Amino acid sequence: MTTSASTTGSASGSTAGPAIAPLTSLRVGGPARRLVVARTEDELVEAVLGADAAGEPLLLVGGGSNLLVADAGFEGTVVQVATTGVRLGSEDACGGAVVTAAAGERWDALVARAVAHGWSGVEALSGIPGTVGATPVQNVGAYGQDVSQTIATVRTLDRVTGRQRTFAGADLRFGYRTSRLKTERVALHGEHAESRYVVLDATFQLRLAGRSAPVAYAELARRLGVEVGERVPSADVRAAVLALREGKGMVWDEAHLHDHDTWSAGSFFTNPVLGPEGAAALPEGAPRYPAGTGEHGEPLVKTSAAWLIEHAGFGKGYGLPGPAALSTKHALALTNRGTARAADLLALAREVADGVRERCGVRIVNEPVLVGCSL
Ligand code: EPU
Repeated sequence: MTTSASTTGSASGSTAGPAIAPLTSLRVGGPARRLVVARTEDELVEAVLGADAAGEPLLLVGGGSNLLVADAGFEGTVVQVATTGVRLGSEDACGGAVVTAAAGERWDALVARAVAHGWSGVEALSGIPGTVGATPVQNVGAYGQDVSQTIATVRTLDRVTGRQRTFAGADLRFGYRTSRLKTERVALHGEHAESRYVVLDATFQLRLAGRSAPVAYAELARRLGVEVGERVPSADVRAAVLALREGKGMVWDEAHLHDHDTWSAGSFFTNPVLGPEGAAALPEGAPRYPAGTGEHGEPLVKTSAAWLIEHAGFGKGYGLPGPAALSTKHALALTNRGTARAADLLALAREVADGVRERCGVRIVNEPVLVGCSL
């Protein structure tokens, strides 16, 4: 395969291949066999189809902020999605602003641009690390918004047919931290299933309100000094969300590089969604938020994994002075204090999940993608 994308690798038997750890916010994980940095869509498509044709396992990395890679590394091709380009399709009072961004664009830069132009619907998703292409896969959400509310279409590469396929948002089966882009997997070679679709770009339909979408998160409304449901200038929402995130060690920019609380993959566990029985068995005082209805119309309740973790005896900073510890600012973030290996983080994650199961009767599951390892 020839490609203009930059490629590094090692012949088998020689020294270790290119490092994956620096590409991730947890900064752990062994080497890749080969690393391709895809800066254009053609390079991305060629790298993916090339790896598939060669029968090579493939790992796509965007911002690397939701990834825990095993110490053994990845015996295959890592493709870093570094495509760029933002296009304004149309902007009118009826349809709003229709904005298409390449998968490799930085998510928060797109949010900042939307806020600056008065396009609303993503302002509460300020300060989230990672790339645009990752957002529809796990339906990124925070402070009462998620991208399912604003995604019009997602253009993908279908690894089964080798062709492009565009999905309307309504066909993406969005749920809490999930979509068909995450769940639809195929075994292209061997037993190991990988994601069928590779995001090429995503198109967002944003309102030309100037003001934010109705504030939908109590903590955010409090911070803004308004009631839930009110609209305020989008820039105020952005500023308030950035301040809230900073307080939780969830802003990952140059200024926070040396704060080990930010060496995390965000929330390490999803918030459990429980049926009536599970909800009734929750410890007294556990947060309960209505979460729609289940398959048989039964009410579902979402609780807080961070609260359960603390209730089970794992307070903020648990694990210190070890190399892997809970963030000192938020119990739901597992962090690398500087010298952790993947094994240290996995051991801590297992200890916390086991403790929560024993002491609270709830199974919590990892939110980041685990590569070459499991809990
Ligand atoms: N809480 C604790 N201890 C803590 C932190 C929180 O007990 O250390 C309890 C409090 O009761 C608090 C509740 O947990 O009211 C919820 O906390 P928070 O608002 O921080 O939200 P979260 O459930 O911890 C979720 C998302 C975050 C998102 C925030 C804000 C998941 C898995 N996580 O966190 O998303 O930023 O809400 O909307 O749904 C991510 O997915 O990586 C992520 C950071």
